[in-house]
Amino acid sequence: MNPKLYLLTYGCQMNEYDSSKMADVLGKSHGFERTLVPEEADVLLINTCSVREKAQEKVFSELGRWREWKQARPGRVIGVGGCVASQEGEQISARAPHVDLVFGPQTLHRLPELLDQNRRTARPAVDISFPEIEKFDRLPEPRAEGPTAFVSIMEGCSKYCTFCIVPYTRGPEVSRPLDGVLVEIAQLAEQGVREVTLLGQNVNAYRGPMGNNSGEFCDLALLIGYVARIPGIERIRYTTSHPAEFTDALIDAFGDEPKLASYLHLPVQSGSDRILGMMKRGYTRAQFVDKIRRVKAARPGLSLSTDFIVGFPSESEDDFARTLDLIDECEFDSAYSFVYSARPGTPAANLRDLVPPELKQQRLQQLQARIRVHDDAFKQRLVGTVQSVLVERPSRRGGGQMTGKTSSNRSVNFDAPPGLAGQFVDVSITEMTTNSLRGVRV
Ligand code: SAM
Ligand code: F3S
Repeated sequence: MNPKLYLLTYGCQMNEYDSSKMADVLGKSHGFERTLVPEEADVLLINTCSVREKAQEKVFSELGRWREWKQARPGRVIGVGGCVASQEGEQISARAPHVDLVFGPQTLHRLPELLDQNRRTARPAVDISFPEIEKFDRLPEPRAEGPTAFVSIMEGCSKYCTFCIVPYTRGPEVSRPLDGVLVEIAQLAEQGVREVTLLGQNVNAYRGPMGNNSGEFCDLALLIGYVARIPGIERIRYTTSHPAEFTDALIDAFGDEPKLASYLHLPVQSGSDRILGMMKRGYTRAQFVDKIRRVKAARPGLSLSTDFIVGFPSESEDDFARTLDLIDECEFDSAYSFVYSARPGTPAANLRDLVPPELKQQRLQQLQARIRVHDDAFKQRLVGTVQSVLVERPSRRGGGQMTGKTSSNRSVNFDAPPGLAGQFVDVSITEMTTNSLRGVRV
């Protein structure tokens, strides 16, 4: 019988992607199969996130619970990967001695060796280095799971926003060579993938080496053009991108490339220039608004998503009012919003944080309510239109319904046979619900 692997993932889409790669490498090297039941597992891995304090604290309470799991059967192995591992390194085994493997986001491909080393030495195996691009060369061939797939095109971040831990835990920006990206996407397309999301902490910093040491580099706008030419690929998304490097070429791509989905995630963080400056984001509100105005002109009907941090140290009523006002000005129809969380080792952690916690929560709710207004308006505008929907899977609601996404990243439920999964169908949108849309096939 094949050994079983249980994987717990915290954090962002990058982490989801990395977790699937952990399963792939251990499947290839040791024949591991994934299980959703921890009691069945021989190896438990937790892929961690340290972007906010809460996520980090959850890791240690989870590890506490796993001690008994390990004692229940000799030979069981516990591994901690991701950004908390990268940040804490050996400290993890000191605080939780039953942890056997500690590896960072850039060393997950070395899991097979770390597992063997741990079994050989009976000591924790730790590797949290940043061996640049080696990770991509060592990953097994991609496996499609349905008609959509994520493809990592770059790793790390070199922006050093004053609040953010990522540059310290994931290392500097490193782009994957163009050929490797295109080959992976072609392999996925052959397996039935129709939509790819190009993934990275800052995909618009992508500078993929081209050809054999030609010294030339491919940027994200050019990459989108190449991906669009891969047979079978009909829709392209990317996430996440930084406003300072959201270039004219990327704006033009929304006008010129029909395969580029009508959805843009561009994290702004705040509407106040004072706070943007303190965050070292590298753009002003006016520069951001100008880019949004131009991209919306290039692609009417574009869905616009962003990230916000509320309660950054010293954020005043006036700063926050500017953020609310920016939501209306740009009409963001979706957003990930967070209360500021001081991350040890980042410059902002040294600032005096005088915004009371209740006020931060209040602002968060106010902000989310404002986004909901624009989300509802966006969905309402889709009612009565016909949308091209990529059918993904049976709807969780059952009842013979299938679910898929519009180009603008909205989920739609409609009556259809399961055999339609993986195809684009035209759906007339009849109704909006809190989180999705309903429609009928035309
Ligand atoms: N590359 C993206 C950008 O251009 O901003 C962001 C990637 S970051 C890992 C994801 C989001 O986490 C950020 O946009 C920010 O809103 C949030 N975040 C990062 N550090 C945070 C902190 N210390 N407290 C609260 N939220 C934070
Ligand atoms: Fe973090 Fe800023 Fe990079 S939010 S991931 S340091 S762009």
